[in-house]
Amino acid sequence: MFDDYLTWKPFFDIAPMLLDDCRAVSDLHGQRFARQWGDGEIASLLMQPGVFGFCAFQTNAFFSRPLGGFALSREAAGEAEILTIGVAEKVGRSGLGWRLMQAALREATVRGVETMFLEVEENNVAAVGLYRRLGFEQVARRPAYYAAADGTRSAALVMRRDLR
Ligand SMILES: CC(C)(COP(=O)(O)OP(=O)(O)OC[C@H]1O[C@@H](n2cnc3c(N)ncnc32)[C@H](O)[C@@H]1OP(=O)(O)O)[C@@H](O)C(=O)NCCC(=O)NCCS
Repeated sequence: MFDDYLTWKPFFDIAPMLLDDCRAVSDLHGQRFARQWGDGEIASLLMQPGVFGFCAFQTNAFFSRPLGGFALSREAAGEAEILTIGVAEKVGRSGLGWRLMQAALREATVRGVETMFLEVEENNVAAVGLYRRLGFEQVARRPAYYAAADGTRSAALVMRRDLR
């Protein structure tokens, strides 16, 4: 993982997600979500028309290129949605989520998207904070939408942001 003892501060580049990245994205997805998406699942999404993603790779690690985060989005007919986004816990709150979302918003704009949507668990303070700071606004609330392993349920917020 991140070579803390060699580099006191990791630096990251944001790059388009490639099929070769799907294994690493799946591994990190499994660390951040209760249901891991397999690399095949991510690859088949990435190959669908309108789907694009970004990865944050550490550029100053000595022996590898650790993945710090990813975002996957889909656009169709002038609208886009964030399918998933995750940042490694160890480098959380260092701006990677922001940078990945900015990359996705920029790419969506280039593709002619007018509105970006996403869905987020109401109690996900970090994600809701990130999206609000990016200018997303709540347009719907789906009560008891998500079910946790212990049976508790939580609401989903649908949020949107105009890109034009
Ligand atoms: C949500 C997530 C992607 C945020 O990534 P991140 O790299 O830690 O976020 P950033 O450092 O870019 O934060 C940008 C802004 O988001 C908000 N934010 C991020 N983490 C927050 C937290 N724990 N509490 C409150 N606000 C938070 C803040 O406004 C922050 O700006 P600030 O640090 O200047 O105050 C990350 O926490 C994550 O991977 N969570 C697990 C997976 C997940 O829930 N994905 C979203 C599913 S909808």
